[in-house]
Amino acid sequence: MTSTALTGIGLLVTHDPEFGELRDAALIIDEDRIAWIGQPADVPAADDATDLDGRCVIPGFVDSHTHLVFAGDRAPEFEARMAGQPYTAGGIQSTVAATRAASDDELTAHAATLLAEMLASGTTTTEIKTGYGLSTVDEQRSAQVAARLSDDVTFLGAHVVPPEYADRPEDYVALVTGPMLDACAPHCRWIDVFCDRGAFDADQVRAILTAGAARGLGLRVHANQLAQGPGVQLAVELGAASADHCTHLSDADVQALAGSATVATLLPGAEFSTRSPYPDARLLLDAGVTVALATDCNPGSSYTSNMAFCIALAVREMGMTPAEALWAASAGGARALRRDDVGVIAVGARADLVALRAPSPVHLAYRPGVPLVEATWKDGQPISARL
Ligand code: NIG
Ligand code: FE
Repeated sequence: MTSTALTGIGLLVTHDPEFGELRDAALIIDEDRIAWIGQPADVPAADDATDLDGRCVIPGFVDSHTHLVFAGDRAPEFEARMAGQPYTAGGIQSTVAATRAASDDELTAHAATLLAEMLASGTTTTEIKTGYGLSTVDEQRSAQVAARLSDDVTFLGAHVVPPEYADRPEDYVALVTGPMLDACAPHCRWIDVFCDRGAFDADQVRAILTAGAARGLGLRVHANQLAQGPGVQLAVELGAASADHCTHLSDADVQALAGSATVATLLPGAEFSTRSPYPDARLLLDAGVTVALATDCNPGSSYTSNMAFCIALAVREMGMTPAEALWAASAGGARALRRDDVGVIAVGARADLVALRAPSPVHLAYRPGVPLVEATWKDGQPISARL
């Protein structure tokens, strides 16, 4: 079988300027790509056909920020937070210890389980970061595990300074920008750094991102999650594809983002799970900033893999309209990964699609927590059909 007609689409949300939103639509999947979009009466011949019986179809979600390579969980830390303890970057160290102790097979199996969970909930593109190894060998094998599962692998050796370098952080920066980068770069497309209180400062961030760029990696920054700081403006200055978190922003940060090609990737699962104030998406959107939504799936600050949950939070807590949140969770994520083949339903784009048991995607926020994803196609293949 090479081509499939999807007919009976009640509402097709494309995020493509040519087609916009179509009522009573059909489309053709040819191998891994979308070959045709239009009205049911005009649908060309295909090898196979699936009638979606009025369901709404949207682009597969693009989760542009995850930390899927790790072992263990931190449920006790979450419980303590819910009892009033603050979130700090220091919790990362316990996941580092568990990750170093896990085998490659264990790390791969666990990340693959999370990825399957994501596919079943409509996520068809997932960026995956290293960052819980923090030694050359453990970062390299984290990158290898991630590269088995994603085309968008990010080197995050500069997540925090590991305990063995606690009293000589400059030596750790030298390791990250030298032998560790050499070992990881061949498996990665991106480099990221945590620029925040308790993590890396402006000079260290500049050195790390400059070294990554010299190795041909694209730039991303964990910026302004815990406090205001230099992260966002450094991301813009260095031409990063994305500044992620953007929770504590100054007016100058917002202006810098607005005048740049750097996407602001908002991660409301982190504010939910750390009981922190949410970023002001409305302010960013009104200033003209391109906004993406992602899960930040990790065992410490945001152990959700569910993009629909993030959409619901963004609408309820961050001032986004349902349509803006849906765009940010698909087309916005694609912008943050500088990809034009995903996050959109367009002729020639990847056939990454989601059918919802709902008349419109507004229901993703209107019916929070309800599993509305009935079927997902990735690269034209049906992944989790409940039709
Ligand atoms: O994006 N902020 C830094 N890194 C992760 C948290 C990692 C952890 O707590 O394990 C984040 O929230
Ligand atoms: Fe993160």
